[in-house]
Amino acid sequence: MSTNTVSLPGGTWSLGELTVTRFGYGAMQLAGPGVMGPPADRDGAIAVLRKAVDLGITHIDTADAYGPHVTNELIREALHPYPPSLHIVTKVGAHRDAHGGWSPARRPEDLRRAVHDNLETLGLERLDVVNLRLGDATGPQPGSLAEAFGTLVELQQQGLIRHLGVSNATFEQVAEAQAIAPIVCVQNMYNLAHRHDDPLIDELAGHGIAYVPFFPLGGFSPLQSSTLSAVADRLGTTPMSVALAWLLHRSPNILLIPGTSSPAHLAENVAGAATPLSRDDLTELDKIGSPHER
Ligand SMILES: NC(=O)c1ccc[n+]([C@@H]2O[C@H](COP(=O)([O-])OP(=O)(O)OC[C@H]3O[C@@H](n4cnc5c(N)ncnc54)[C@H](OP(=O)(O)O)[C@@H]3O)[C@@H](O)[C@H]2O)c1
Repeated sequence: MSTNTVSLPGGTWSLGELTVTRFGYGAMQLAGPGVMGPPADRDGAIAVLRKAVDLGITHIDTADAYGPHVTNELIREALHPYPPSLHIVTKVGAHRDAHGGWSPARRPEDLRRAVHDNLETLGLERLDVVNLRLGDATGPQPGSLAEAFGTLVELQQQGLIRHLGVSNATFEQVAEAQAIAPIVCVQNMYNLAHRHDDPLIDELAGHGIAYVPFFPLGGFSPLQSSTLSAVADRLGTTPMSVALAWLLHRSPNILLIPGTSSPAHLAENVAGAATPLSRDDLTELDKIGSPHER
């Protein structure tokens, strides 16, 4: 496996002392349908992961709940022993039921087991970054994270985790976590059309904390907007390329983790994220997420 040193769109960001490319890769959709079970094309999934590293990506997002265990095992099979530059960010706090549902699993014993499961399935002695996944499948929900986050802090103090983050979190929960221990990232749903976290992104930027939007391309419902398509047509590129380039422009603390099961789409997305956007393009794109266009 060769590691490309060519710089990726957006350059790099620091998660604590760890340097990652702002263009990362989200592994969730490598698992089977509904993020359950093995992929239909196992060799293809392995190829995408190796392509990501070959392109120079040094940030891969995963979770033991994907499959469950499936994406972590694919990452290990494709990339272990990991290049020193590669940083794998995982998350804990959700359990998959027999029907593929995502139920909360945030009791101390659930979190300890999940951290150990992630260590084992990824083949690591220490996890670079662990996000505490909050809320539920409908989005963030209010409530204290103190007990759950405190359990992760204990595991961090035991040397099992380098850095902590939160996911699917409210503004208040992010602040509560920061009052307990430093966090390096927040991973919430955000894209051109879903901009509820705009104030949070700006707040985190001021603290040097990464904001990592999940569903940057719309997730299971691809982004659709006539404005986005018109800008992409004008620039001679795809709506997905423009959506990724816009995120890199939106704030320097935004890290991309678009998912794909296709090496060709991955290369297309890396190239597309570098699409130059003018001030006029950005003004037009900003209207997509404004209340009157939602
Ligand atoms: N913290 C959380 O609660 C949470 C929740 C959801 C996701 N996540 C993380 O966020 C990551 C990103 O989310 P996601 O993968 O669900 O959604 P996404 O990145 O918004 O979109 C992925 C979808 O876009 C398609 N796609 C990507 N590039 C394409 C291209 N160039 N042309 C056409 N289609 C393209 C993919 O299909 P193909 O496979 O056909 O390319 C896939 O169906 C996940 O992998 C996961 O790591 C976190």
